[in-house]
Amino acid sequence: MATLKTQFEKAILGQKALVYVLCPEETRVLPMLEQVASENSLKFETWSCVSGLSKTGKPEKTRDPAEAIRTITEDGSKSIYAFQDLSEYLDNPEVRRALREFNYGKTAGTGKFLFMISPELKLPDNLREEIHLIDVPPPSDDEIAEELRRIRSKYPNTKVPETYNDEIKIALKGLSMAGIDSILHRIFKSGKTEKEPIFNEIFDEKEVIIKKTGYLEFVPPRALVSNIGGLGNLKDWLVKREKVFSKEAIDAGIMPPKGLLIMGVSGCGKSLAVKAISALWKMPLFRLDMNLVFSGIYGSPEATFHKALQTVGAVAPVVLWIDEIENALGLEEEGGLTISSHIFSSFLTWLQEKPPLIFVAATANKIHALPAEIIRKGRFDQVFFVDLPDEAERREIFTIYLKQFCDNLDQFDLKMLSIMTNGWNGAEIAQVISAARTDAHYENRPFAHGDITLNINNTVPLSTTMEQQIKGIRNWAMSRATPASKNARILRF
Ligand SMILES: Nc1ncnc2c1ncn2[C@@H]1O[C@H](COP(=O)(O)OP(=O)(O)OP(=O)(O)O)[C@@H](O)[C@H]1O
Ligand SMILES: [Mg+2]
Repeated sequence: MATLKTQFEKAILGQKALVYVLCPEETRVLPMLEQVASENSLKFETWSCVSGLSKTGKPEKTRDPAEAIRTITEDGSKSIYAFQDLSEYLDNPEVRRALREFNYGKTAGTGKFLFMISPELKLPDNLREEIHLIDVPPPSDDEIAEELRRIRSKYPNTKVPETYNDEIKIALKGLSMAGIDSILHRIFKSGKTEKEPIFNEIFDEKEVIIKKTGYLEFVPPRALVSNIGGLGNLKDWLVKREKVFSKEAIDAGIMPPKGLLIMGVSGCGKSLAVKAISALWKMPLFRLDMNLVFSGIYGSPEATFHKALQTVGAVAPVVLWIDEIENALGLEEEGGLTISSHIFSSFLTWLQEKPPLIFVAATANKIHALPAEIIRKGRFDQVFFVDLPDEAERREIFTIYLKQFCDNLDQFDLKMLSIMTNGWNGAEIAQVISAARTDAHYENRPFAHGDITLNINNTVPLSTTMEQQIKGIRNWAMSRATPASKNARILRF
């Protein structure tokens, strides 16, 4: 990715008179712009609605944005003008007209540049053509390394081992420079030497950033791969990639995977598998709530979605979970055809170009609604199909849940239980054990095999009521996805 400085230089070389700098950190952008101005023999001047223009004209006269733009249009010197929060005024026709005159007027192309710096993208459609957009990336590896060196040097007696440096740099990736500064000061001051509390400090900061958005939810790393029954191929895939986001792997030039699409029958562990990635790979997991994105509470769905992807990019390395992707991305079926939304197209483009340290985990169950583009090779590293568990897998699931409540499993006939639950999904097995425990608890006695069999006999599994749909899902997935289970696929009913 081009550095911030090269992006500014490119805009100047390309004689882009109007530049929109999307960045929440003015303190990072302004000094860099000033440096670029000086290296290109340009005057550097700032504007804000509080102070007006810093050099040209009287401040009190140039607080009005349209007036300030008219003033710099008349100004004869070659300059970079850094306007702070001008985006707040772009719905004012007078400001838009003044910007057009700056762009096309007689001083156009004479080495004058108006940079609008804003934390949010608020570009009116009728100015899109004229304005060159720079989406400022979070601090680069070199910038982070320099900041770490600088702040560490202020704490000569710190006990934080130098050997943590490389991992700290990776963990800090994606945070703003101000965030990085405050964390580093906290870490060096705290006297902590253990790895875990130091890294938790960093992850907590990332969590706070995400929480502020409202539509991204932090999912705590509680699920373990060892608590997933069956799904052997999927588990192997995850375990094999356990270290791909580590410093060693990145240094060795291993490309981290882009993402995983897990589709299939309801209640068979798709969400559970995504949750397990976080603990296994030691990366924070955030679920994007697309219902909230579409609700309009946070602005237009397109803009909110864009912002969500940016926010996630800002806290990478991270796992981004998009649940029920077929609903989430506004895909609709109409007369057997899938109609893609704008959001869906921008998601596909983003998926191909996204920052490498975001891993996307998508889950789907109405898989007929998924258009071919999403499954095409190159978008996701792997597409897994999750089916109902077979007998051996059901036995594994029973074992996982029973072990949580009983020390001695000899009292349970696991073979019998797994035969009795032919056609059941994992969620139903978990549910039947929970119901059996409730029954026993109600009668004030330890729960036993009979409680489970009784509840099994009283349950109608989903596969009975949805036999046709499940067959349909299987036929569709057969040629399009890798079975998540190792013992695929001689099945069932
Ligand atoms: N393979 C499994 N191993 C262990 N537990 C399972 C398994 N499958 C399902 N479960 C249990 O069922 C619960 C629900 O499963 P999960 O939410 O992962 O299903 P899903 O495939 O995402 O379903 P949906 O399509 O309805 O979202 C899990 O939290 C877990 O308790
Ligand atoms: Mg799910």
